[in-house]
Amino acid sequence: MLTSSLELNFLRFLTRNIPMSLEDVLFTPLYEDLPRDHFHRFLTGYFADQANDHIVHRGLYLHIPYCVNKCAYCHCQTWPGPDHPLSLNDYVKRLKNEIAWIAPVTGGRGFSHLAFGGGTPSLLSEKQIQGLFAAAEPHLNKNTRPPRISFEGNPGSLTTPKLELLRKLGVQRLSIGVQTLNDRTLNLVGRHQSSEDVTRCINDVKALGFPFLNIDLLAGLPGQTSQEFLDDLARIVSFRPEIIHLNGLSDIAGTALNANRPFNTASFFQRRQKMLLQGKTFLSEHGYKQQGSSAFAIAQDGEDYDRLFYTDRPGAVIGLGAFARSSLPGGGLFESLLSGKSVNAFAYRGQKISRKQSMAKMIVINIINGMDIDRLGTLFNEDARAVFAEEIKALTQRGMVAEKAGCWIYPGEHSFKGLFDLHSHLKILFGKEVLELLWRKYRKAYSASENYLDAPHLAWAIQNQWFTNSYYGLGW
Ligand SMILES: C[S@@+](CC[C@H](N)C(=O)[O-])C[C@H]1O[C@@H](n2cnc3c(N)ncnc32)[C@H](O)[C@@H]1O
Ligand code: SF4
Repeated sequence: MLTSSLELNFLRFLTRNIPMSLEDVLFTPLYEDLPRDHFHRFLTGYFADQANDHIVHRGLYLHIPYCVNKCAYCHCQTWPGPDHPLSLNDYVKRLKNEIAWIAPVTGGRGFSHLAFGGGTPSLLSEKQIQGLFAAAEPHLNKNTRPPRISFEGNPGSLTTPKLELLRKLGVQRLSIGVQTLNDRTLNLVGRHQSSEDVTRCINDVKALGFPFLNIDLLAGLPGQTSQEFLDDLARIVSFRPEIIHLNGLSDIAGTALNANRPFNTASFFQRRQKMLLQGKTFLSEHGYKQQGSSAFAIAQDGEDYDRLFYTDRPGAVIGLGAFARSSLPGGGLFESLLSGKSVNAFAYRGQKISRKQSMAKMIVINIINGMDIDRLGTLFNEDARAVFAEEIKALTQRGMVAEKAGCWIYPGEHSFKGLFDLHSHLKILFGKEVLELLWRKYRKAYSASENYLDAPHLAWAIQNQWFTNSYYGLGW
């Protein structure tokens, strides 16, 4: 998850009132109502194209948008409680149908990764889980041993029998949304789980020997103090999960918290940032190494990020199910939508993404910890310095990028003030003119403003389409 550094509401601010011509710079037009067959043909062509042979990760992502209820802060597109257009059983049937339809597009190579995300995949019954595995398993790449399978869930519904089944089915990485262990705060944000659920669940996961346990925590929840956050972290670290995601709470339009009272102010940001920085220090003192903007992993000899299911390689992901996103580097970004009542009840829409834009996206994701320039070039089979010569020059002149030990890195403050620079990377990498315009238009307004909450539609396009795989694809 990228929420802590790629502050979504700040994106809204940055994209406020951007003229259409700039929208054109950022995006090629959306394929609004892409017929299913076209989507299928696009994927088949993409995987058959030798220019994409460098893409070694081909992931299949299954989105389960069901939740028991809607947590007050949550921005994810989900169907909470009884508020869904389709029973979970019917949804699973359609998803199985969609898997069978799409799987041949990889040209027999199969998927190197399989991920279940949500929403709450752990709401699936054991029978439904078995059914989805049976549908996907034949399409996994048999050379990837063990297959990289990841499953996301909530402590309340990850029961012991379900965990036993997931282990038997070969799930390697289990991701648990904990957010906080403070029962008062959990109550306040409408999350139906107790700290006891969490402890039971983690103990089960450890006893069953899942190779990778990921825990998501949130910093900046209502009423949460730094001390409470650090107490949560200390308890979680005592279980030694392989990966911990420290997500900074974002104030997002459409959530219950935001509707009650928008809170995206400098003082909120400072409180949240203090927690994140303290958390970061705490984790590094306890043997965790930062592996992305919000992920921290136990550093072990010879073990790299890739082995922990994250990769800085340009992976392709096909997302199936309602609201699932597909990301094909140098090809396109798509979203799957539920449409109609037939068995083929999904439709697709999306946009093209060029090779340069895909490279830019990777730089943006890695800029905080440093993007290895040679590696970027090797991965995309391009001379990265030549491709981004103009943009990097402009960024360097403004002190927004520095080159250190062969990496492009953000040298500024990781603070409220530093956010403008940090997020301007998002634009500069799509063209020098874009930065110039943003610089003139927004820099002053931003410095003068305490509250930058604003919500233009373009921001949704960026949020939904741009960060597709990093945001929803479990780090691919
Ligand atoms: C897609 S959610 C699903 C996880 C799971 N259902 C759960 O409840 O934890 C994944 C993560 O997004 C993060 N998230 C959701 N809303 C957020 C917000 N407003 N700000 C920051 N992170 C958020 C949470 O940390 C959550 O673990
Ligand atoms: S945080 Fe998780 S459980 Fe809560 S509404 Fe969002 S996806 Fe559902």
